[in-house]
Amino acid sequence: MMRRAVVFGAAGQLGVELVRELKARGYSVMSVDRAQVDITNAGKVESALAEFDAQVVFNSAAYNQVDVAEQEPQAAFQVNALAVRNLALACRQVDARLIHFSTDYVFDGTARHPYAEDDPTHPLGAYAVSKLAGELYAQAYLERPLIVRTSGVFGPGGLSTARGNFLELMLRLAGSGQPIRVVEDHFASPTYAPLLAARTIDLVEREQSGVFHVGGGSPSSWFTFAKTIFEVAGLSPMLLATNEREYRTAARRPKYSALSNAKMERVGLEPMPSLRRAVELYFESRPPLNASRA
Ligand SMILES: NC(=O)c1ccc[n+]([C@@H]2O[C@H](COP(=O)([O-])OP(=O)(O)OC[C@H]3O[C@@H](n4cnc5c(N)ncnc54)[C@H](OP(=O)(O)O)[C@@H]3O)[C@@H](O)[C@H]2O)c1
Repeated sequence: MMRRAVVFGAAGQLGVELVRELKARGYSVMSVDRAQVDITNAGKVESALAEFDAQVVFNSAAYNQVDVAEQEPQAAFQVNALAVRNLALACRQVDARLIHFSTDYVFDGTARHPYAEDDPTHPLGAYAVSKLAGELYAQAYLERPLIVRTSGVFGPGGLSTARGNFLELMLRLAGSGQPIRVVEDHFASPTYAPLLAARTIDLVEREQSGVFHVGGGSPSSWFTFAKTIFEVAGLSPMLLATNEREYRTAARRPKYSALSNAKMERVGLEPMPSLRRAVELYFESRPPLNASRA
């Protein structure tokens, strides 16, 4: 079994959970954040892998600013595509496995069913194109990369990152006392980061490769996600439904990008819990609301 793991992007929402779960399973882990290694620097990536004699490399680093990417597509491409090429080439040199994360946004959202791994991709903007290119680079240089596509990630790690997560954004808005408007015509599979980390490592330990979808257990509109958050938190702010016509964003997004986990379940992995259960788990692992506001 591969016991020496490197995690790039270790300070992100998913990164912290990968490090925690790998350590809990007895791996020797090198946790690398952006200040230690910027993955766009090929030389630094190469020396980190060689120095640690890595056997399995997780890349949870990403440029995730979907709207800003429309103004600076090169920046998104550097991190989400060209840096994945750096990682793939460095993994090839030391014969390590690469585990890379991608997104539901590789799809255009015109399907009427949760997307399967072999559904045709059709990204709608600069971020999405860069993430699909990252998948292609991993596949171009490695025989058996594992690519895990996920959706709407939220985890306790978001409490300490500048970017945060949707759940913390909703809590902040509720605290402001203003009406909260959330789109009801866009659907995704909000995914709890600790379970995404656990299922990904399960796939690695089952020697799986190729593309897998690991999304949350319930396809949901962002409005329903917000409603669930407030119900579980015991808050009742004024929550109003809006839609993409009223709420314009710089980047086009797929209207329906729920992911099917059927392939993951077929290889024996435990199904993901419902959205409500995942939100409950989040609140169980997060500091109590009154403590965080103090
Ligand atoms: N978050 C979502 O809703 C979502 C949805 C679908 C797919 N995904 C995918 O899931 C994966 C994990 O996302 P996440 O939610 O954990 O994102 P996150 O919280 O934004 O973490 C990403 C991490 O990558 C770091 N990073 C950015 N550029 C870097 C660089 N050049 N070199 C090294 N590190 C760099 C960031 O550091 P800084 O904070 O310093 O920039 C941050 O710590 C990504 O592949 C993402 O595309 C996420």
